[in-house]
Amino acid sequence: MRLFLALKFREDCLQTLLDWQNDLRACCGGNFTRPENLHLTLFFLGETEAARLPELEKAFFAIPMPERLPLRFSGSGCFGRPHDRLIWLGLEKTAALSRLAAETRRTLAAAGFHGDEKPFRPHITMVRRADPPEPLPLAAPDLESSAESLCLFCSERQNGRLLYTPLAERRFQP
Ligand code: 2AM
Repeated sequence: MRLFLALKFREDCLQTLLDWQNDLRACCGGNFTRPENLHLTLFFLGETEAARLPELEKAFFAIPMPERLPLRFSGSGCFGRPHDRLIWLGLEKTAALSRLAAETRRTLAAAGFHGDEKPFRPHITMVRRADPPEPLPLAAPDLESSAESLCLFCSERQNGRLLYTPLAERRFQP
């Protein structure tokens, strides 16, 4: 199973993300991330044996989490090859967000789950296979919200579509 841990957004945040995507549609094509797939990855585990799921869920519920997790957008950009650019929207790397990402990595590693070692760069993938004008004509939206939940997701491709299924979820206070 291909697994990752990510934050889910509240309704106000999701609406802002959809509005931002719609503004982007006016100037570029591409595979726009579907609303139900918008997330912020904290830790990418990758292929994991299904038999280890109970251990993993135990570690997931042991991650020290704040009651509330404020989020603020910050920065946007693209990377990748021409005509195959990925457009991202950044989130401010606050102390609380960095702490949660570090606690996630530490708790899962202590349980024997070692994921992607890349430094944490909080971003939301908004569009794949894009060919946008650069620099992007859209600034990051000015919205302060808070995360809805921390989820353990399973990522699959079904009929060519990315499907993210939540296997476990822990909610934050609004
Ligand atoms: P991306 O959107 O920048 O590709 C599910 O694939 C989620 O895990 C995506 O948010 C993806 O980020 C993220 N991710 C982090 N490291 C990854 C890796 N090594 N391979 C695939 N996805 C990764």
